[in-house]
Amino acid sequence: MNYITFALTKGRLAKTTLDLFETIGVTCEEMKDKDSRKLIFVNEQLGLKFFLAKGPDVPTYVEYGAADVGIVGKDTIMEEGRKLYEVLDLGFGKCRMCVCGPQSAKEYLQHKELIRVATKYPNIAKDYFYNKKHQTVEIIKLNGSIELAPIVGLSEVIVDIVETGSTLRENGLTVLEEICPLSARMVVNQVSMKMEQERIWSLIDRLRKVI
Ligand code: PRP
Repeated sequence: MNYITFALTKGRLAKTTLDLFETIGVTCEEMKDKDSRKLIFVNEQLGLKFFLAKGPDVPTYVEYGAADVGIVGKDTIMEEGRKLYEVLDLGFGKCRMCVCGPQSAKEYLQHKELIRVATKYPNIAKDYFYNKKHQTVEIIKLNGSIELAPIVGLSEVIVDIVETGSTLRENGLTVLEEICPLSARMVVNQVSMKMEQERIWSLIDRLRKVI
């Protein structure tokens, strides 16, 4: 039997993903060992392999077929723009992609002024400002702690993920515009979807019943 290989996103999404898979009998005991330095885990009985990767790398593994299936945030899918099938909304990891800043920055958006936008998601920000809002902006790519940018004067606004909103609140910032809702999604390699139709559809059907 051919293995079905899963690329899971390291961090917050990984544990919830494994818990969800466990409810449909897709398990991997090996993966629960926190001290292990192993990178790939196998369930021989079920013919499954699992590995953990950084979020932005998950769509890459899936597009190239190094993984048949990926579990990754919608934000990362949109930002990476890879060729793959998005087959299921897993309903966890819910949050929103938003334009945020101090309340005073609202008018820059209303008047479509040329402002600086700091973000970890330059493609999403570009698409939103250029294609949806028709507002010319300068996009500045950062790699984390995006909320710092408007506080220290690097940018007027940011495009970032808002979950509870507490990072914004604690830093005197607010949601100015909502871009889209986000959650964890299952993605599938385009060739695997045809070659492993039966097993992948069975997985989707079983997941649908529990989410
Ligand atoms: C994310 C995001 C926000 C925060 C939002 O950052 O970029 O900073 O979480 O969550 P909240 O609305 O519940 O406060 P993350 O913790 O992933 O780290 P990062 O700043 O390094 O991107």
